[in-house]
Amino acid sequence: MIVRESHPKRRTLRVVTFRDRPDLLGAVAAWKNVWPDFLLHGQEARRRFGEARKAFPDFFLFLVDGAGRVAGSGFAAPLAWAGTAETLPEGWDGALLQSLDDHAAGRAPTAACALSAIVAPHRQGRGVGRQVLAALRDVAASHGLGALLAPVRPTLKSLYPLAPFERYIEWKRADGSPFDPWIRLHRSMGARVEHIALCSMVVRAPLRNWEQWTGLRFPESGPYVVPGALCPILVDCDRDEALYEEPNLWMIHRLA
Ligand SMILES: CC(C)(COP(=O)(O)OP(=O)(O)OC[C@H]1O[C@@H](n2cnc3c(N)ncnc32)[C@H](O)[C@@H]1OP(=O)(O)O)[C@@H](O)C(=O)NCCC(=O)NCCS
Repeated sequence: MIVRESHPKRRTLRVVTFRDRPDLLGAVAAWKNVWPDFLLHGQEARRRFGEARKAFPDFFLFLVDGAGRVAGSGFAAPLAWAGTAETLPEGWDGALLQSLDDHAAGRAPTAACALSAIVAPHRQGRGVGRQVLAALRDVAASHGLGALLAPVRPTLKSLYPLAPFERYIEWKRADGSPFDPWIRLHRSMGARVEHIALCSMVVRAPLRNWEQWTGLRFPESGPYVVPGALCPILVDCDRDEALYEEPNLWMIHRLA
């Protein structure tokens, strides 16, 4: 089923749901190098991502072009949010687990939380990201939800892993707009910063896994910069493990 045209002027992309076209997931899964490998091996929340897809198939969206190719995807989960910064989940992990708990307990959702927004690698930088966010806002609004919550993963932060997160998110361009393009896009669509989620996604794993994911060796304990991470990982050779705690920025799109 076609949910709506996401770009009424050009009508080039339409939005379809996972409920109607589960087969399209394969196209998104085939996109390479979207996330650093280690991010796909988070704790409980990451392992339960598939459950969210089954529980909320109308909130898992694909943007499809006229030739039937997937140009982008946006995944979200509805949850019961009390409407204040204090009552936001801890971060991405917390939001996903809360949405599943709320669903199991039959609690009525009040907001949707964006879990992922991806544009096909060869189509990035052409405005599809904006359409993905617009589709997520629309699906939340069409379900009567009052907000789209976004634990924003700033896209350029991994290039500045040593910059403190709370400073990086304040960086501005010459025109005064946010330095980071993904924060900038959310903001240009009316989202407001509510809160820093210092521990949004957690990955704790044996060093052999980290070596496989990063191609690096970790001869002694301490912080290490690894490709794709927004901040250093902490290596503990005595425990034979490393810990990554990813910071995200809670931005809220209040919906009419
Ligand atoms: C983040 C992402 C969804 C943005 O989608 P997009 O279609 O490329 O974004 P847009 O074309 O709408 O561009 C938005 C802004 O980002 C800028 N931008 C896009 N890609 C960029 C890049 N690689 N480097 C620097 N700036 C970039 C655009 O120039 C634009 O800037 P503007 O505000 O000055 O106009 C896409 O790059 C992506 O899929 N990245 C990998 C997954 C990811 O990180 N998702 C976000 C976290 S969930």
